[in-house]
Amino acid sequence: MTFKKNILCIGAGYVGGPTMAMIAHKCPHYKVTVVDINPTRIAGWNSGDLPIYEPGLDKIVKSTRGKNLFFSTEIERGIKEAEIIFVSVNTPVKTFGAGAGMAADLQYWEKTARQILKCSESSKIIVEKSTFPVRTAFAMERILSLTENDIHFDVLSNPEFLAEGTAIKNLEYPDRVLIGSRETPSCVKARDELIEIYSNWVPKDRIITSNIWSSELSKLVANAFLAQRISSINSFTAFCEKSEADITEVARAIGMDSRLGNKFLNPSFGWGGSCFKKDILNLVYLCRHYGLDEVANYWEAVVSINEYQKERFVLNILSAMFNTLAGKKICLFGFAFKANTGDTRESPAIFIAKKLIEERAELVITDPRALNNARIDLNGIDGKISYIEDPYKASDGCDAIAVVTEWEIYKSLDFEKIYQSMFKPAFIFDGRNILNHKRLFDIGFNVFPIGKPSLTHF
Ligand code: NAD
Ligand code: UGA
Repeated sequence: MTFKKNILCIGAGYVGGPTMAMIAHKCPHYKVTVVDINPTRIAGWNSGDLPIYEPGLDKIVKSTRGKNLFFSTEIERGIKEAEIIFVSVNTPVKTFGAGAGMAADLQYWEKTARQILKCSESSKIIVEKSTFPVRTAFAMERILSLTENDIHFDVLSNPEFLAEGTAIKNLEYPDRVLIGSRETPSCVKARDELIEIYSNWVPKDRIITSNIWSSELSKLVANAFLAQRISSINSFTAFCEKSEADITEVARAIGMDSRLGNKFLNPSFGWGGSCFKKDILNLVYLCRHYGLDEVANYWEAVVSINEYQKERFVLNILSAMFNTLAGKKICLFGFAFKANTGDTRESPAIFIAKKLIEERAELVITDPRALNNARIDLNGIDGKISYIEDPYKASDGCDAIAVVTEWEIYKSLDFEKIYQSMFKPAFIFDGRNILNHKRLFDIGFNVFPIGKPSLTHF
């Protein structure tokens, strides 16, 4: 079969895999190839057991794979054949040298850019899909302009806004698709080609364009605003616990103001995920680089409040359980950074688990999707940790349960049965406020929600 376009994506991760599966699904007339340096990941994408869990992903991969969607480690060949290349490699925080702990580590995209330059035999459109620092496109253009033959690269910015756990829905019905470009005739033509791809399923008024630097910055700002909103509501959970106000009532009252809206106001013991922290720290680093210290301090506080919130959760557990956790068995309900994913990158659960182990507690971890990643995250930690998928077995004989991930299944568990099997007095720390606290209290639990009065029997 001949295809109308050859699309390549470099990086077969949480973004590259699902975004390309959606393009292949919506555009059977395009050939979409996803390549990666990690052969295990590619083997996973080609198997019946995909390397990431995302509701709805299996179905679209199975319906397109081998027809117009291909996963491969043949990066050079992929580059040669492609007309459009999406770059979706990881951009973690730098762990060494200048900017360590703040700036983005750009070695992955730079290697990719150099490889594109080396292997290309024809002109191409290069699309930044990863989240990059502002002005990365400029560096990308500089590298790609080193070509010795008569070929030309147009660099576009097309940041991804999907959230894990709802990625397929977000990709199928995006709030917006943002495409940043320069205004040269060649870039405008490239931008139109990208618009044409999305137009196969995204309404035209949801595809917006901007200058390339605004596009790069918008992605960082979107994540900063989202994280700020959670940090804001979380900062008032501490206030509620002191003043006997109830954070759910406060969130409801403010969320009904149409200017504020009611989304992203769920209090938690801290936000996690691979991007919020790294993207805000990167933004903070860029602000300092431009001498904008006040702006940097403002956004850095969003991260500080989150660290405080995680610490506070552990300290609340410690103080509620008579200031000693040594030898006590605590069951973590969930380990993923949010529900409907097996991803544990920057999950606040990692912090909580390590702190509880430092207090010499014994941990039992249960999660429907994230136990393998939890084992990797806590590997080598000196302490007693077990991993049990069944929440009833996991909590059996424990002193306390800490709800860490807002999995739907936890809401409908038989807590009467769980209470019977636990050590007394039994405690529940609901780090997500998803359980029926009054009912748990009536069963006999001592209940500690987030941002509401605790319900105790002593
Ligand atoms: P990931 O780590 O899951 O995937 C990145 C992949 O790139 C890895 O499989 C890695 O092996 C591969 N890779 C690295 N260097 C390569 C190279 N030179 N050649 C080929 N493959 C290479 O990361 P992710 O979660 O998919 O995130 C990718 C980017 O998208 C990041 O910049 C992130 O900030 C951004 N983003 C992520 C999400 C999300 O929900 N995870 C959402 C929006 C944006
Ligand atoms: C986030 C953004 O929502 C995406 O738009 C963005 O593309 C992505 O980061 C990225 O750049 O990687 P994600 O981290 O997958 O997506 O998930 P979110 O739904 O944003 O949740 C992030 C964290 O905040 C989770 O730990 C979640 O439990 C927590 N959260 C979320 C709350 O504590 N309260 C809320 O009300 C919402």
